[in-house]
Amino acid sequence: MSFSLTSLFLHLLFLQGVSLAIRISQLEVPTLLAVGEGGWLVCDWDDEGDHVYSLKWYLGIDEFYRWTPLETPSVKTFPMQHFRVDTRASQRGRVRIHNVTVNAGGNYQCEVSGEAPVFKTSVKSSIMTVVDLPDERPTITGEEEGPFKLQQQVTFTCFSQNARPAPSLSFYINNQTVDPSWEEGVLVHVNKTTTLETAFKTLRFHLRPNMVHMGVLQVKCAASYPELYWESSERVFTVDLPYNHAYQPDSQGFMTHSGDNFRATPHTPLIYSLPLVLSILFSYSLYHC
Ligand SMILES: *[C@@H]1O[C@H](CO)[C@@H](O)[C@H](O)[C@H]1NC(C)=O
Ligand SMILES: *[C@@H]1O[C@H](CO)[C@@H](O)[C@H](O)[C@H]1NC(C)=O
Ligand SMILES: *[C@@H]1O[C@H](CO)[C@@H](O)[C@H](O)[C@H]1NC(C)=O
Repeated sequence: MSFSLTSLFLHLLFLQGVSLAIRISQLEVPTLLAVGEGGWLVCDWDDEGDHVYSLKWYLGIDEFYRWTPLETPSVKTFPMQHFRVDTRASQRGRVRIHNVTVNAGGNYQCEVSGEAPVFKTSVKSSIMTVVDLPDERPTITGEEEGPFKLQQQVTFTCFSQNARPAPSLSFYINNQTVDPSWEEGVLVHVNKTTTLETAFKTLRFHLRPNMVHMGVLQVKCAASYPELYWESSERVFTVDLPYNHAYQPDSQGFMTHSGDNFRATPHTPLIYSLPLVLSILFSYSLYHC
């Protein structure tokens, strides 16, 4: 008698501890989407002996999808203003959404409940951000339009208009990332009517000979969101080089400049060979001192 009571007790423990342990094992929600895009919401679970009674997806407090395997039809969707649920493509915990609006951003929560009588529930959530992309690629403006002189301080501003949230802006000189100390922090202006944001970033540095290729300085600015968007624009500014760096038909590239395109004949600029000349002169003077 006492033996069978013990085994009943153990059996109850087993039910409590093991078979009612439904648990969400994986939750996937796109981190960033652009307005108009869509994606998959994935909620997977380990049932560990229990069975799913219901699986529900919420945005904030609004339920938009429910899967109840014992009912027919097993999938129900509830209309949302901020995206469309593809009922045919969705099943179990995997939900396909389309055409998100900017208000589809928020906290996406999956809730899985086990069977009666306990209905043990497991909940997980993740944030999705929806980006209203900038109107167009970023724009670079210069305090001066050039031609610049070596060693002079130059200032450029890059801006990207009407996005939400504003993108990251990065500068490149001759396709190389710039020294972070040359950049000022991003300023964001919010249009009160549209609530869209325009981001500005300023770059300021002293022009050095090694930044000038074929008589020009190339400045590029990129606006980006990680794994979602990357757009850039670039401009070239002419630089007046001192006589011995400048136009020398036999050693310096000859350049024609029209608008944003420039062509250069592939000669080695004199400045590339300058270190070599200096080191030869230096070793010559060592021998003769
Ligand atoms: C996407 O959503 C917008 C805003 O809700 C709507 O105007 C547009 O017709 C939708 N497009 C498609 C293809 O469903
Ligand atoms: C930067 O990259 C672009 C595209 O690859 C190329 O056309 C351009 O010549 C490069 N500019 C410099 C200064 O290297
Ligand atoms: C805000 O956006 C509206 C609509 O695009 C535009 O007409 C207005 O000039 C903008 N306001 C400012 C301060 O940029």
